[in-house]
Amino acid sequence: MCGIIAYKGKENAVQIVMDGLRHLEYRGYDSAGLCVVSKNKTFLIKKTGKVENLLREVKKKQAHDEMLEGEIGIGHSRWATHGSVTEANAHPHFSCDQKIFVVHNGIVENYESLKEELVKKGHRFVSETDTEVIPHLIEEYRKKYSFVISCEKTFNRLDGLFAIVVLDKETGQIIGTRKGSPLVMGIGNQGLFLASDIPAFLDKTNKVIFLDDGDMVHFINNQEYIIRNLISKKTLKKKINIIKWTKEEAEKGKYPHFMIKEIKEIPEVIKKAAWQDKKTLKSVANLIKKSSSVFFVACGTAGHSCLAGQYLFSSLLGRRTGFSVASEFKNFLPALDKKTLLIAVSQSGETIDTLEAVRMAKEKGIKVVSLVNVMGSTLTRISDYVLMINAGPEKCVLATKSYLAQLSLIILILFAVLDKHSEGERELKKISRQIGLLLEDKKFIAQIKQLAKKLSSVDHLFVIGRSYNYPTTLETALKIKEGCYVHAEAFAGGELKHGVIALIEKGTPCIIHLSKSEEEENTLINAMELQSRGAYIIGIGPEKKKDFDFFITVPEVSEIFSLLMNVPPIQLLSYYIALEKGIDPDKPRNLAKSVTVK
Ligand code: G6P
Repeated sequence: MCGIIAYKGKENAVQIVMDGLRHLEYRGYDSAGLCVVSKNKTFLIKKTGKVENLLREVKKKQAHDEMLEGEIGIGHSRWATHGSVTEANAHPHFSCDQKIFVVHNGIVENYESLKEELVKKGHRFVSETDTEVIPHLIEEYRKKYSFVISCEKTFNRLDGLFAIVVLDKETGQIIGTRKGSPLVMGIGNQGLFLASDIPAFLDKTNKVIFLDDGDMVHFINNQEYIIRNLISKKTLKKKINIIKWTKEEAEKGKYPHFMIKEIKEIPEVIKKAAWQDKKTLKSVANLIKKSSSVFFVACGTAGHSCLAGQYLFSSLLGRRTGFSVASEFKNFLPALDKKTLLIAVSQSGETIDTLEAVRMAKEKGIKVVSLVNVMGSTLTRISDYVLMINAGPEKCVLATKSYLAQLSLIILILFAVLDKHSEGERELKKISRQIGLLLEDKKFIAQIKQLAKKLSSVDHLFVIGRSYNYPTTLETALKIKEGCYVHAEAFAGGELKHGVIALIEKGTPCIIHLSKSEEEENTLINAMELQSRGAYIIGIGPEKKKDFDFFITVPEVSEIFSLLMNVPPIQLLSYYIALEKGIDPDKPRNLAKSVTVK
């Protein structure tokens, strides 16, 4: 939540910061702002709403002032926590003398006491944010100390989790630090970068340093920097990593939205998820075999892939397997012994609740395997074993391709535990081809669009499925809620008569997930029960059923792989309903892709 970008170098910082913000907007779009300093001028521009509002304002100013450029700059896209969505609350925040500018992701928990102390010393605050204490505190220390020492002293006094970048107008220096929130450093030919995520500067450099908690980086000039850890007090020489993601992967290209681009990438993503180092996969399979039980944790969509994992591991491996959304994990921890294996799944690798669950498990001596998309993310660094899902950058706030990649990897692990790794790879390749053909099928797409039109005016709908289709129903409901603002609820077919059926009226849309399995018959009975009470029943499955009001046919696959096959239709449905309703599918209201605050 909240995106940060900073640059010091030879190129125009205005352009670099604006480009960076465009890439980071998925982290929050309540407001955006930048501060750029050139030799004798400071430009501070903030706007509420999406980054494009800021861009428009920058262009307007550029038209009047052709000197709107600089060598150092910081920018921020905000997901509001403390203080409403106003320009005053937008970042960067600044000191009384307007020499210190700060962008921040996270929460300063002790900001009230710090603010009280600073107000007593005469500091004037202009926002309602927790962040604003940071530039004022640095300004206060600056009366006695250098910029570097003032920052260090300030960071040491902040409670909470955060990533911070500070720009000092007077010295033209930039300092950044992180504790719990993401911050990565980029090394370009022309200058240095700091950002919440790599795509923010990927078009300029793929050389990246992953900062750890407590690291403070100081840009001395366009090429030189010092990294010191504030906890160990040591100056560090950190590894420079070369990132394989390409800049094209992080751009929309010919597509109107990231969501559709990322759905179209699914066939490729399934194949890439299966590209695993055989040795590591084998070690993970052995850990599972040796464990007393397996417990999955994650949030949101990643949580649904964990639930699918729980179903698969319990039913097909016969292993004791648990799952909890990460924010509820502490309730289950007392029941886990040291021989439990924790599997944490996260696209970003930065979701705070998932990280906290992992830390709690590790404290108890439990081994952690994580399935992650973002290389170098915090989760990859605190886990004992890491398997990358290899989905490439996912920019749409709604998770689509990453879900399929997570499921594919979980299925591959299942096959590896069964000593059938190669069969798993083959099957994944096969389904990747089948989904590829489906996504190219014009009739199928036309059918989804037709259904989207029909559902664009409904207020609520229900989703029903049994067995392996149950996680899919939950993911369907989530995609419909977050993407289209339609109230959608998912139920296991068997739960229907325990309450839900009371809500069915004439015309209530119900999506029924079907697959070739022994549960198919019971699910069909549920569908008929709904229809006889007036529901408009929509089927998704391998064989068209004539009694349904609408049916989306997908290729027939075995029950395990229906976990993958039934998902793209509902992702597309969510996309096209959003378009019908005029919602930006990449940036639905109130959401952010990476939830880094509690
Ligand atoms: C947010 C996103 C979801 C995502 C969830 C978990 O809610 O909007 O799309 O599934 O976080 O994120 P993670 O990065 O841990 O998979």
